Amino acid sequence: MREIRFDRFGGPEVLTLHTDAPRPDPAPEEVLVEVSYVGLNPLDYKIRDGSSGMAKDLELPAGTGREMAGVVVGSGDGLDEFELEARGLAPGTRVFGMRAPGDRRGTAAEVIAISADDLAPIPGEVTAEDLPRWAGLALVGLTAIAAIQDDAAIREGETVLVHGGAGGVGQLLIPMALEAGAAQVWATGRAANAERIRALGATPIAYDEQDWPAEITAATGGRGVDVVLDTHYFSTFGPSLDVLADGGRIVVLPSLADTAPAIERGIEVHVPRITPGRDRLDHLVQGLRSGAYPLEASQVLPLGEIAEAHRLLEEGHTRGKLVLDAHA
Ligand SMILES: NC(=O)c1ccc[n+]([C@@H]2O[C@H](COP(=O)([O-])OP(=O)(O)OC[C@H]3O[C@@H](n4cnc5c(N)ncnc54)[C@H](OP(=O)(O)O)[C@@H]3O)[C@@H](O)[C@H]2O)c1
Repeated sequence: MREIRFDRFGGPEVLTLHTDAPRPDPAPEEVLVEVSYVGLNPLDYKIRDGSSGMAKDLELPAGTGREMAGVVVGSGDGLDEFELEARGLAPGTRVFGMRAPGDRRGTAAEVIAISADDLAPIPGEVTAEDLPRWAGLALVGLTAIAAIQDDAAIREGETVLVHGGAGGVGQLLIPMALEAGAAQVWATGRAANAERIRALGATPIAYDEQDWPAEITAATGGRGVDVVLDTHYFSTFGPSLDVLADGGRIVVLPSLADTAPAIERGIEVHVPRITPGRDRLDHLVQGLRSGAYPLEASQVLPLGEIAEAHRLLEEGHTRGKLVLDAHA
């Protein structure tokens, strides 16, 4: 089968398409999934170039990719047909999911073995055009839930600023913040993404045309916002501390972000930690199905063009999700 692997840390060129990779054997509690689409995330290139904490003890050669959508085609010894049925994962079921943080195997392959706990069924009909965004839902979705529910704990009537509102996580943070009761959400992004941000329910601030701290200060009458959800970090984290209201909190996404400037000022700061689990995946299913979480897959590339996909990811301007077609 086809699978992407890399045998050393480095640039996108280390990613190699193997056409004779062995089909994996599922462990007792695992399911075998024929992958349709692979969702990509900035974490993928941070593991590939060795900068992520998750690269530290990674055994090379290694696979790449953390999430996918596909079809159940088999299972390990511990999962008989009754058990699979009970979990809604009978062979032939369309599923999506992401590897648990401790599972370092990739998802960019035609067939993967993955823990049954890390998958959820996609109920009902899914059109071919709709499938790619399911592949990109799990990681950003579980991150957004952690950021909103576990960390920011947004309360009714609070005000929120999202940095990177048109990105993968940003496209879910906006509707989830509103769902949690936010009275108003502003979101930064390039002017080219303003309409998308508005469609998600936030007031766009074009950081390439406007002075966003000045806009927030003016819009809140100098009070600032209760919560900042910062998916960008580099140029946004420091100035965000100045637009937080008293008692405000900031959630910053990159795992290696330096949170000391917030701590030194006594500001509550969090870096989200994904909690895997079927209940959260099922919640994401409902949100995507109902239209409440209108995550978009903006680009679908063939599996063999993964190096190009990583170059695009690294530019840092992905709109929604970048996805690979495992069979193209
Ligand atoms: N802690 C965790 O568990 C966790 C989980 C998931 C992701 N993350 C991290 O969170 C970050 C975002 O992930 P993602 O998947 O959402 O990335 P993404 O899809 O690549 O989106 C990045 C977004 O950042 C925006 N952006 C770029 N420069 C900006 C600036 N100067 N000001 C404001 N926005 C800017 C881009 O929008 P424009 O095109 O409009 O500029 C783009 O939409 C990554 O660093 C990722 O590794 C952490």
